[in-house]
Amino acid sequence: MNNSFDAINEAANSDLVSFWGELAKDIAWDEPPQRILNDDNPPFYRWFEGGKINTCYNALDCHIRDGRGEQAALIYDSPITNSTRTYTYNELTHEVATFAGALKARGLEKGDRVVIYMPMIPEAIVAMLAVVRLGAIHSVVFGGFAASELAKRIDDCSPKMIVTASCGIEPTRIVEYKPLLDGAIELSEHKPETCILYQRPQVTASMIEGRDIDWHDAIDGVEPADCVPVDGADPCYILYTSGTTGIPKGVVRSTAAHIVALKWSMKAIYDMDPGDVFWTASDIGWVVGHSYIVYAPLFAGCTTVMYEGKPVGTPDAGAFWRVIAEHKVAAMFTAPTAIRAIKKEDPDAKLLEQYDLSHFRAQFLAGERCDPDTLEWTGQHLGVPVIDHWWQTETGWSIAATCLGIDDTPIRVGSPGRAVPGWTVEVVDAAGGPVPAGEIGSIVVKLPMPPGCLPTLWNNDDRYVESYMAEFPGYYKTGDAGYIDDDGYIFVMARTDDIINVAGHRLSTGGMEEVLSGHPDVAECAVVGVADALKGQVPLGFLVLKSGVDRAGDTIVAEVVQSVRNTIGPVAAFRQAVIIQRLPKTRSGKILRGTMKKIADGEEYPFPATIDDPAILDEITIALQSIGYPKSE
Ligand code: COA
Ligand code: AMP
Repeated sequence: MNNSFDAINEAANSDLVSFWGELAKDIAWDEPPQRILNDDNPPFYRWFEGGKINTCYNALDCHIRDGRGEQAALIYDSPITNSTRTYTYNELTHEVATFAGALKARGLEKGDRVVIYMPMIPEAIVAMLAVVRLGAIHSVVFGGFAASELAKRIDDCSPKMIVTASCGIEPTRIVEYKPLLDGAIELSEHKPETCILYQRPQVTASMIEGRDIDWHDAIDGVEPADCVPVDGADPCYILYTSGTTGIPKGVVRSTAAHIVALKWSMKAIYDMDPGDVFWTASDIGWVVGHSYIVYAPLFAGCTTVMYEGKPVGTPDAGAFWRVIAEHKVAAMFTAPTAIRAIKKEDPDAKLLEQYDLSHFRAQFLAGERCDPDTLEWTGQHLGVPVIDHWWQTETGWSIAATCLGIDDTPIRVGSPGRAVPGWTVEVVDAAGGPVPAGEIGSIVVKLPMPPGCLPTLWNNDDRYVESYMAEFPGYYKTGDAGYIDDDGYIFVMARTDDIINVAGHRLSTGGMEEVLSGHPDVAECAVVGVADALKGQVPLGFLVLKSGVDRAGDTIVAEVVQSVRNTIGPVAAFRQAVIIQRLPKTRSGKILRGTMKKIADGEEYPFPATIDDPAILDEITIALQSIGYPKSE
């Protein structure tokens, strides 16, 4: 392949099928695909149908076949428990095959679903790979979600089994998973047959006779299981992500497309070769963790680092530099929030001086818009390229990036780069017409999208069409707004829907509003994402109380804060709400959330011509001032 961005881009754009068909030869098949792209039924596209393939084989066994068995596959680094452990490809494959044997012995078969609700411990990766080894489908749920969020996911994907651990460890507290899991199973209509639980030394969870099995008992004496081939277009995993309502969307990832796209991305985007150490500081509960802690580095024969800690406080703001130095990390990937947290504690990066980072080649950032300050600070102190790149749970890998392996064009601050080869990105107006370069509109991707993106939503083709494909026929709606400059650099500015990004975590304000409106004293409410210097955005609630309610406002606010924590989870970081008399609305009843956000952020806003009661804006300004908004004043 010609090692230049323009040539590769041209090849991908002129013939998507040949381009990806050729790349598909670079992965391990039991039987090659009969069809590279089935586009008979748009907007449903199926990549690599008819072939037989296994995800786990491509992540593990093929590297043993190729003589990499003694190379490190996984380094677990946990400052929170003060431990590290390295697994070679041979060792990790043995652990995975054994756990797959345990799942098989309990009846897990191809196509069955398994929910994995686990902290950042190696057993979580072992569980993911064991599930796909059997051709089954995993759905990992982030540990910071509450029981009812877990219950929604259990009901949607009806898992035969759940794999969990006794606890997660946050710097200030132990998060006991078992009561959350038991609570979720009580709430859900679907009941899993089996729960396998890994007991961590910090907490011993109680077990329910007949349903729960200890991890060690489960693997005791079982035969390791072989890889079960599946059709290339069969699902490999489901990952739930926030939509505009409280019902999460089950993003499906299909097997072969996932392997082809992620393996290619490791060289083209991240410039990683087999044997290089790659570290993504995220969580396996997010797409960033699925793709770049677990699958992509392993498909590419790299060593991946799994980090159970925080950017600061475990023990200090030099933690990231220690991990890079100690494990000879060649490139790392995190969210801008993490860098902001480090910069806040160690503004001159003094802690960096203790570490030798001479082998470190690149820093990647994604998950939220990267502010220029953070990008520049990182580059100045690390002295390596800092690459912002843009993607989503739905796409599974980058839509836009500076592709370090094939492109040496300088980055443009404020832009995550140009469209990656294989992606045709455009900006359109509300009617779907093209907008000139430099003008803001909805960012859309021309169909078919490259391999690796969602083929549909789990059990919900209608929602897939309605959410992504209906508004701009022939295009996938990203839900992001932005512009493309004259040279093709994409600038991603904001979401066009009710989704907010809190510390790189994607959350639905609609979901939070559903919780607030469930409070007995609340008549109406709105939640908006307001600017936050550390987390990028945080949610802020507006409450209108039912007439006659005379309880103290502070008490009601504290209660709704607690209910969001209990219902959605601590990760929502919902800590503030104000009580107002009325919500600002248009004459047709639409809540003016954008105007409320601008007032809270202290930004100029165009006076909403269709507002039904202009005086309410002054009242909101005063109410917000009483809780310290706008922050910049
Ligand atoms: N399990 C249980 N609870 C969790 C959790 C998990 N896996 N992850 C976070 N939480 C909890 C935290 O303990 C915190 O609870 P608290 O309200 O009791 O303090 C709450 O969720 C919010 O957590 P967090 O967003 O991590 O905020 P923080 O103030 O504790 O830390 C940062 C701030 C910047 C250090 C942190 O957000 C961070 O490391 N961000 C990196 C972003 C990232 O990796 N994003 C992934 C997508 S790329
Ligand atoms: P998630 O599905 O959790 O990965 O969140 C995806 C959303 O995060 C995108 O739709 C964007 O709104 C935002 N996002 C991710 N990466 C970037 C980036 N590099 N620049 C701007 N926004 C981003």
